[in-house]
Order: sequence, then C-alpha cells, then structure tokens
Amino acid sequence: MHCYRPTQSFCQAILLCIAFIRLANCYGRIINPIGHHADPQPISRIQDDGKRWYYFPSANGSEAEVNMFASTNLNDVYSTNAPWNRHSIFNFTKNDQQNPEAPAMFKWNETNYVMYVSSNGPTGNRIYALHNDGRDLTSGWTFAGVVSYSDGTTLIGYDAFALSHPNGNKYLFYTNTTTIFVNKLLPDYGFATLQPKQGGNGTIVASRVELPFTEAPAVLISGDKLNFLYSQNSFFSPNYTTYNIPVSTDADPLDPDTWSKPKPVQVLASSEKNGVYGTGSVGAFTGPDGKPWLAYTCFYQQKAFDRYTSDPRYVQVQPLHLMNDEIQPLIPVKPGHKMQKAQNDAYIPRYTNLDLRFFKKPPVREGK
Ligand SMILES: *[C@@H]1O[C@H](CO)[C@@H](O)[C@H](O)[C@H]1NC(C)=O
Ligand SMILES: *[C@@H]1O[C@H](CO)[C@@H](O)[C@H](O)[C@H]1NC(C)=O
Ligand SMILES: *[C@@H]1O[C@H](CO)[C@@H](O)[C@H](O)[C@H]1NC(C)=O
Ligand SMILES: *[C@@H]1O[C@H](CO)[C@@H](O)[C@H](O)[C@H]1NC(C)=O
Ligand SMILES: *[C@@H]1O[C@H](CO)[C@@H](O)[C@H](O)[C@H]1NC(C)=O
Ligand SMILES: *[C@@H]1O[C@H](CO)[C@@H](O)[C@H](O)[C@H]1NC(C)=O
Repeated sequence: MHCYRPTQSFCQAILLCIAFIRLANCYGRIINPIGHHADPQPISRIQDDGKRWYYFPSANGSEAEVNMFASTNLNDVYSTNAPWNRHSIFNFTKNDQQNPEAPAMFKWNETNYVMYVSSNGPTGNRIYALHNDGRDLTSGWTFAGVVSYSDGTTLIGYDAFALSHPNGNKYLFYTNTTTIFVNKLLPDYGFATLQPKQGGNGTIVASRVELPFTEAPAVLISGDKLNFLYSQNSFFSPNYTTYNIPVSTDADPLDPDTWSKPKPVQVLASSEKNGVYGTGSVGAFTGPDGKPWLAYTCFYQQKAFDRYTSDPRYVQVQPLHLMNDEIQPLIPVKPGHKMQKAQNDAYIPRYTNLDLRFFKKPPVREGK
C-alpha cells in the first residue's frame, strides 16, 4: 500500500511528540510508589550545592544493617537503578542486636543529628541511639547508647521518634506495641537518656490495648500546632490506618490533660478506589515545594499479607494538606500516576497513561 509508510511515520512522529511532552510534563514530578521499603522517617535539607537533599533511613532486619538512602530526586531516592543512593551507615551485631527496624533521625541541633533504631536481642527489645555531626548524613554514624531512664532502668520499646519542641525541650515518643508513650530527653546525659515519669515508664499519649497495634508515632510541628501521628490495627492488613491528634504547642507534651483537642482524627486509610491498602507508619518531611509532605507505607492487595513469609510493602509520598496548621485527611494516591500542582495549591494525581484526559487542559500551573 502506498499510504502505509507515510501513515506509519506520521504516527511515529505524533507518538514521539507525545513522549516528549509527557517527559517534560513529568519532569520534577513524583510518581508513586518511590520504593519497596517500609516505615519511612525521612528528612530533607538544602545543602551547600543549593539543592534539597532527601534522606530516607531504612533498616535491613535480617542483615542487621541500617542504610541511608539519599538523593536530590525524591523519585529515585530508593531506586535500585541508582544504587549509589544507598549508603551503609551502621551494622548491628547479629544475635546481640537483631532485626533493627524503624530508624528515625532528627536534627538535635546545628552540629548533631541523632537516629533512634529499635532492635531485639536476647535481652529483649531496645532502642539504640546513633549519632552524626550533621556534615554528611551518609557516613560517620556512631553508636550513642541504649536508650535508658536517668534512674538506670533500660527502656523497652519500639518505633522511637524524637523531636525538638518549641518549648526548648526534646522528647522521645515510642510504643510498647499497644500503647504510645512520651518522655523528656535529658541532654545533660547525652543522646540516649530520658527523664522517667513519676511512678511509671512514660506518659501515655495513645492506647488501645484491645487492638493488635498502636504504633509508629511521628510528629509534624506547623505554626502553633503539634500534629501527633500514629498508626493502628495490623500493619499487614488493609485495616492499618493513621490518626492525627492536633495539639497546641502551648500544651505540655507530658500532660495530655492540657491537650485541648485530644480526639484522634483519621487522616489516612486504605482506598479501594485507588487500590492502595494498609496505609500507615508515616513520616512527615519537607517536600520539593518546601512544604510538608507525608511518606507512608502501603501495599496493593485487598487481602492481609502473611507477614512471616512476605513483605509487599511500598513507600508512597504526597503533599499534606493543613488547615489551621492541622493535618487534614488525605486519600492515598493511585500508584503509577504523577502529581501536579493545582491552582488551589492542592496536589492532584493525574494519569500518566496516554488517554484523552491528557489532551484536556488540566487546571494546572507550573511549579515555582
Ligand atoms: C536485606 O539484605 C539481604 C542481603 O543483601 C537481601 O537479600 C534482602 O532482600 C534485604 N532485605 C530487605 C528488606 O531489604
Ligand atoms: C556493614 O556490613 C556490610 C556487609 O558486611 C558492609 O558491606 C558495610 O560496609 C558495613 N557497613 C558499615 C557502616 O560498617
Ligand atoms: C503496654 O503498656 C500498657 C500501659 O502500661 C499496658 O497496659 C500494656 O499491657 C502494655 N502492652 C504490652 C504489649 O506490653
Ligand atoms: C548541641 O547539642 C550538644 C549535645 O547536647 C551540646 O553539647 C551543644 O552545646 C549544643 N550546641 C548548641 C549550639 O546548642
Ligand atoms: C515499665 O516497663 C517495663 C518494661 O516494659 C515493665 O515491665 C514495667 O511494668 C513498667 N513499669 C510501670 C510502672 O509501668
Ligand atoms: C485487622 O486485620 C487483622 C488481620 O486480618 C486482624 O487480625 C485484626 O483483628 C483486624 N483488626 C481490626 C481492628 O479489625
């Protein structure tokens, strides 16, 4: 046929154009999931090169290793195609400190970063502190102690999360699996010592002992609100879900009775429509637009998974929506779709698959 070849090359040209437009349109945008990991507690910071660097610590339980994934590109921070983003930063001693999990780091002050990692061993569960001077977060981490109370007793717990509070104190949140506690850190003793609570281990800030898990505490401070996030139910099941308790920063973190609005708000749950399940174990961080984003764990099957034989969990990231500095409920975005900025400053997921929607002008303005 005479017209076969011209038609074909016309089509090829069109497809090529579309490919270029898609590439340009995707540039700098995030496509979820960003990696096959769990329990993200990232931080980001702008470094001397003027770029925002993302740091996602991740533990390999079976190897007792802690790795730091670092990149200026949120899309490829965990990527197996970019193995240079993975840095081995600390090895625990197998059989002594096993199954390290849920590493969470925080900026103690300008010259100190501290990471807390839970791990079990013959003596039970412990939380270990690692230290870095802040110059290079991909190396130079050293052991900084077993988290203990100043009276000498050792803390038993998981999922530690530390923060500097506007009131000048530092606090450590952690769980015993069903109950989340908080204690004040005592900097005079180093990076791993807590003030014990009178007559107990810590102040209870969330507890549902009848449920399998109440865990993974995380905090986002925005304006005069401390958003206290945690996850509940079973991490291997679609019923895993995330709550937020917005607390005034004027309130005493050690005295929940002073928290004016203690009712937990469910902010993240499975979305049947988007095929995203088991959304929990979250970490807030500063995203590409300089605003708060959320990284969370999820999976893509409707049924609970067998946690002893498989781990289908992935990490997704998306912008947080705050109102009066309080985290608003968000719907987990559909994987494989890019996110673009909408006029009202909210983010909307858009199809990357070629379809007619692509040609309709979306209500989008380019990012700054
Ligand atoms: C841990 O490391 C081992 C050995 O490199 C690897 O086979 C395994 O997939 C890793 N596990 C995770 C959860 O990354
Ligand atoms: C941890 O162990 C692995 C495997 O033996 C090794 O390649 C890596 O360099 C070690 N990391 C550190 C920080 O010592
Ligand atoms: C966790 O602590 C709460 C409050 O002290 C207690 O009731 C519960 O039994 C503890 N759970 C576990 C698994 O230790
Ligand atoms: C940073 O923290 C360390 C350890 O608590 C302390 O010794 C040092 O004085 C602090 N630096 C500043 C500038 O506050
Ligand atoms: C403190 O925690 C330990 C270990 O979980 C537990 O055995 C003990 O009962 C707790 N003490 C109080 C007063 O809750
Ligand atoms: C959540 O799902 C798990 C696994 O299917 C189940 O064991 C657990 O009881 C469920 N929890 C709730 C609160 O529904």
